[in-house]
Amino acid sequence: MSPDTQRHTTHDAEDDPRNGDILIYVDGELTPRAEAKVSVYDSGFMLGDGMWEGMRLYNGTWAFFDEHMDRLFDSCKAVSLDIGMDRQGILDALTMTAEANGMITDVHCRLMVTRGVKVKPFQHPSLSRSGPTMVIIMEHSKPKDALQSRGIRLATVPQVRGLPTSQDPKFNSHSKLNCVIACLQAEEAGADEALMLDPHGFVNTTNACNFFIVRKGEVWTSTGDYCMNGVTRQKVIDLCRENAIPVFEKNYSLYEAYGADEAFLTGTFGAQTPVAEIDRKTIGTGERPVTARIRA
Ligand SMILES: Cc1ncc(COP(=O)(O)O)c(C=O)c1O
Repeated sequence: MSPDTQRHTTHDAEDDPRNGDILIYVDGELTPRAEAKVSVYDSGFMLGDGMWEGMRLYNGTWAFFDEHMDRLFDSCKAVSLDIGMDRQGILDALTMTAEANGMITDVHCRLMVTRGVKVKPFQHPSLSRSGPTMVIIMEHSKPKDALQSRGIRLATVPQVRGLPTSQDPKFNSHSKLNCVIACLQAEEAGADEALMLDPHGFVNTTNACNFFIVRKGEVWTSTGDYCMNGVTRQKVIDLCRENAIPVFEKNYSLYEAYGADEAFLTGTFGAQTPVAEIDRKTIGTGERPVTARIRA
């Protein structure tokens, strides 16, 4: 373990006091953060029965809005959750929230849609009679620069990714318990976040981001089975293809991950975050030319 024993996450942001006074969108109303609430009968609170997207606003434009909407609408269709509005309606709600908060750039948004409020505290989806519930949290948010130089420390964990037949890992559902358990296990091991394997033992993803390695100038990531179909993951693959960087979606094991020249995570929040260690083994030499090129 490196001498830096402080805990870090891939979502470390600079402190911004303006976030103390933000307005939150709840079903069309804007409410100060301290008073923004959903019902204790809400399907999302009670069962994790909802879907969300993390998005970023740069210079007045939502990055990869269409891709985020594709994923949200596909996920909701798959679980018969009627969002109750179209993409333009969601864009209007985002614009309303951003304008009310005077936010234009370096903004992180969590857009959440749940099956709505239940009439009884039980599981059956038919008990969710009013809804959906839509919440938009927007914060001023700049990823901490320090993470780019020091990198993140990962530990492999016993918790594995799920099969599509249990809970498809492509669902960005409110229930993230599988990932939360993995993260807890990584913390127990003294790392920042978890590197999760697939049910066959191949390296798959982390608890909150997609995972890539670089070996001899080639960029490798998992086949895409068992992990979140990350918007940033796909953008990195496309970027490599467009710039003649060899990129492979394939099975590989920890053997190849430990011996990688570089490793990095992808996600909407941090774009690409370098990995410093996996299971206390230093990755590469600390030089990260391919990661730097992709990031640029
Ligand atoms: C488990 C997991 N992997 C990866 C990602 C990154 O996806 P994206 O690049 O679309 O932000 C997320 C984001 O929600 C996630 O929850």
